[in-house]
Amino acid sequence: MRCAALLATTFLVALASACGGAAPPNASSPAPSGAAASSSVSVPPAIKAVVDASDRSDDDRALDAGRKPGEMLAFFGVQPGMKVAELAAGTGYTSELLARAVGGTGVVYAQNSKWILERFAEKPWSDRMQKGVMKNVVRVDRDFEAPLPPEAKGLDVVFDVLFYHDTFWLKVDRAKMNKAVFDALKPGGVYAIIDHSGRPGTGSSEVQTLHRIEESVVKDEIVAAGFRLAGEGAFLRNPSDARDWNDSPKQAADRRGTSDRFVYKFVKP
Ligand SMILES: C[S@@+](CC[C@H](N)C(=O)[O-])C[C@H]1O[C@@H](n2cnc3c(N)ncnc32)[C@H](O)[C@@H]1O
Repeated sequence: MRCAALLATTFLVALASACGGAAPPNASSPAPSGAAASSSVSVPPAIKAVVDASDRSDDDRALDAGRKPGEMLAFFGVQPGMKVAELAAGTGYTSELLARAVGGTGVVYAQNSKWILERFAEKPWSDRMQKGVMKNVVRVDRDFEAPLPPEAKGLDVVFDVLFYHDTFWLKVDRAKMNKAVFDALKPGGVYAIIDHSGRPGTGSSEVQTLHRIEESVVKDEIVAAGFRLAGEGAFLRNPSDARDWNDSPKQAADRRGTSDRFVYKFVKP
């Protein structure tokens, strides 16, 4: 019997190898070098349906390949009925995905500062807010130092997607901002940060020139605000990015969506 099982396993391994497939994982094999535990995120059908919704705009869909929204929503555990927020919602690509994922029983507080609204977001953001799918989104026009309204309490997740670096050159008091996020989250709630990675040693020196930040700077600030780093996603990593070019939407051109990005899941203890 044991011999038959061994033969069957040997056959399967040989077959996989002959077909160009990987051999089945084996507890004794080391992980490939550089592979993080969470490098692949499985996207459940309900989240796949959110991303595939036929009434999402063509402009939003065009960003999906570079943003991996299914992996993002799955990695941060967004579920129907959740109360979530997004800082720096911009023109609302992420906020609309959150609105769909939390559904009619959930709520999304979507914050923009005056600077964002005046600079580029007002028209596309207010147009997007007219869509029926945005009815569970609360528009929040507030500064970053007090980004959420008093009723936004006991939140499940607060997102900051591709904007944390901008708070440096905009001279936001981030200790205040991070405390406000901490206070708005429930215990066990998640502070979700995605940003463009800067080269080692650059710190925050390229936040305005290249729109990148060395990830240890972000990690240290958020841990100092009382959060625990609970996980890191590798689904937006691009090891071949030299990280020496400006990845802001207007400058990136056809490289948009290819920057090496870090994904941090911080938890309020
Ligand atoms: C890519 S947006 C992300 C907004 C939102 N959090 C999201 O996930 O959709 C963040 C960065 O892009 C810049 N940005 C976004 N849209 C822009 C536009 N239309 N013109 C200029 N800058 C823009 C912002 O200043 C910021 O550096």
